[in-house]
Amino acid sequence: MTTLSLKKITSAWIITILALFVLAIAFGITMRFNQGANINLDPAKFYSLLTTHGVTMIGIWAVAGMVAVNYLLARYVPVSTSLNVFAFILTVVGVVMLWVTTFIGHFHAAWTFLYPLPFYVAWEKWATPVFLLGLGVLGIGWFVWAVGMMLQILKKYSLRHTFAWQHLTTKHDVAVETPPFILITTVSLIGIIVCLLAAVVLLVLFFAEYFSSGSFVNDPLLMKNLTYFFGHTLANESLYLGLATLYELMPEVSGRPKFKTTWYVALGWNCTMVFVLTAFFHHLYMDFVQPVGFQMIGQLASYFASLPAAAVTAFSVMVLVFKNPIKWSLTNILFFLGVVGWLIGGVGALIDSTVSNNIFLHNTLWVPAHFHTYNAMGNVLFSLAFFNWAANEFVGNQNETKSYSLKIVLLLIGGFGFVLMFYFAGAYSVPRRYSVYPQEFTSAALLASAGAWFACIYLVVILWMFFDIVKKCFKVFSPSY
Ligand code: HEM
Repeated sequence: MTTLSLKKITSAWIITILALFVLAIAFGITMRFNQGANINLDPAKFYSLLTTHGVTMIGIWAVAGMVAVNYLLARYVPVSTSLNVFAFILTVVGVVMLWVTTFIGHFHAAWTFLYPLPFYVAWEKWATPVFLLGLGVLGIGWFVWAVGMMLQILKKYSLRHTFAWQHLTTKHDVAVETPPFILITTVSLIGIIVCLLAAVVLLVLFFAEYFSSGSFVNDPLLMKNLTYFFGHTLANESLYLGLATLYELMPEVSGRPKFKTTWYVALGWNCTMVFVLTAFFHHLYMDFVQPVGFQMIGQLASYFASLPAAAVTAFSVMVLVFKNPIKWSLTNILFFLGVVGWLIGGVGALIDSTVSNNIFLHNTLWVPAHFHTYNAMGNVLFSLAFFNWAANEFVGNQNETKSYSLKIVLLLIGGFGFVLMFYFAGAYSVPRRYSVYPQEFTSAALLASAGAWFACIYLVVILWMFFDIVKKCFKVFSPSY
């Protein structure tokens, strides 16, 4: 059941996430203008911005997915508001710690904090442990919250039912139906719990070396595997939480019957759960000491992880909208465009994860190109759709009368224009994570400037949505509500 306290904490999350998003976009635009030689940042400042931007974006969109599924989960099982508030407080504390290390402590080892970079202190000495601790605080909050949600699900559905195994048959009469929302939420939460556990191991190993005064040294290959297992999995599971929200809300706001769990939906998501946990190996193709078997698993799992979820979702969404009377609104347009962005970014990712292409594309701007596509034009749109729907829910009116066409046009021009400049640069082998491009890359600065201007258009739309959504969210805090 949706209580007032659940509405209040969800509103607090939405306002905080959107405010952090606006700031993180501004950091991104600043970096892109610097790469375009329109402004001239000190390199250490550029890398502090890169670190803050990356860690903030990954964090807020992972947690946005959890906020959405937590709210919608209340339709099926009781959810704990205290755990939600606990995660919120730890998130705020964690973000403050991280931002203090980057803006005051000048920590700039990028959001992946790849071992042993954080130990090569080129910033305040305290910033390394505080950055790692900040990550730990975020991780604890989200881990406890995710476990809490899983336990609530398991109180109502058996393990077999949460994975929808009873649907893996062509028979139509299953005794207990698993809603797609429960299946996808389970798959995603399990992935999140496992990757946060890996993060705990990683942080413990970092601290063990930090406090050992040189008597304990980590294995860099193990550390890199753990880092990417954590980072890649978290980024992917965030997307899947967005898809859980889509499965629950898109038919409802479109005035269509709810999605059902069929055998192919059950099979697709079960496969995704297994393969997504091993796809991260594609980040280590250039680490020649990595056993060859893992490299093969990396390539195969990259294909197998994305295809079932993508194919099943694309099919389900096409069936929903094709030749059916749809009640279009900003919410379902955002869901629809999010699927398009996710699929385009997914194809970009598959091209890069193919070993023969990766030789050329590895660590070029092709990498930010594909992950910005399925984030800025995919996962972010899923969460914005939820935020817009929730804000309307808070004021009790899903029938928006305002036209949203201009918002959508600007979003498409700004968002796809911004990522297209990354793709062009990647195709020209421009390296990623450069503050200023070497002169040999003749078109890199021009593409960066163009990307920055497109991103400004994207920012305008986000600010526009921010004001519309936040105004409604504040209503739940009014004493007369
Ligand atoms: C229009 C909005 C955005 C702008 C202008 C922007 C800009 C940038 C730029 C310029 C970079 C550095 C690229 C490089 O040279 O390697 C970057 C990296 C990154 N961005 Fe964004 N970005 C935006 C949205 C997002 C979103 C929505 C996410 C969500 C996850 C995101 C996550 C990241 C991450 C993880 C990195 C890598 C950081 C690192 O290498 O440590 N960005 N972004």
